[in-house]
Amino acid sequence: MTVETESNSINVAIFSTAEEASREVARRIAGAVNRRPDGVLGLATGGTPVTAYQALIGMYRDGKVDFSNIRTFNLDEYIGLPPDHPQSFRHFMDQQLFQSINVDPERTFVPDGLASDVAQACSQYEAMIRDAGGIDLQLLGIGHNGHIAFNEPGSAADSRTRQVALTDETIENNARFFESIDQVPRHAITMGIGTILEAREIVLLALGEGKAEAVAKMVHGPITEQHPASLLRRHRNVTAVLDAAAARRLA
Ligand code: GLP
Repeated sequence: MTVETESNSINVAIFSTAEEASREVARRIAGAVNRRPDGVLGLATGGTPVTAYQALIGMYRDGKVDFSNIRTFNLDEYIGLPPDHPQSFRHFMDQQLFQSINVDPERTFVPDGLASDVAQACSQYEAMIRDAGGIDLQLLGIGHNGHIAFNEPGSAADSRTRQVALTDETIENNARFFESIDQVPRHAITMGIGTILEAREIVLLALGEGKAEAVAKMVHGPITEQHPASLLRRHRNVTAVLDAAAARRLA
């Protein structure tokens, strides 16, 4: 079951279950790759995209999509974790997607969490995205507090890839992946909101009751830096793919 409603500039596609919503996201990503086999994907981490990546791997195994010529850029990475750390986003991507599809590992990029000069690593990341011709399709999740990537409330609408401090709420929400909360890094590198808004297409996946309020504020609330996801309404090609639980608070 899907309901396509236009809300400002965010299209909303609602599915009965998380699995159906995740399969829709996989279809959209595969569609972008098939339209432009040497194109550029922006990818996300966290609990939400896991099922979508599994569906994408299924489509690859069924011969429906070929990743051999694409480039990928991830939204963010913790500062201080080596790439092979079980909770680094590089490790997450290798485990959850890259090692199961035919993407060229040399063409997958994640911010460098161990950079000695973080500012330089951030401007280099921006340059790599530009040199790749920009991002064709950017996959996003959404934080309970409306953050996108690690752009926490208060992030500037024109912010670029940079070092950020994580809020206590985000640290607590991500602690579930670590042995203990004090092992969660306090800083990260994230693509900025300005960087994300330059993607030609944005697909935001939100699942579960816990995201319903953040989704409702994104779609119906004021457009404000206090709720970074609301800034997506300034983009002309955003689709929020939701399960019924995450869509519950939508008018
Ligand atoms: C993390 C990530 C975001 C993600 C969000 C939601 O902090 N930096 O990219 O969208 O939190 O995570 P989850 O999908 O686990 O709810």
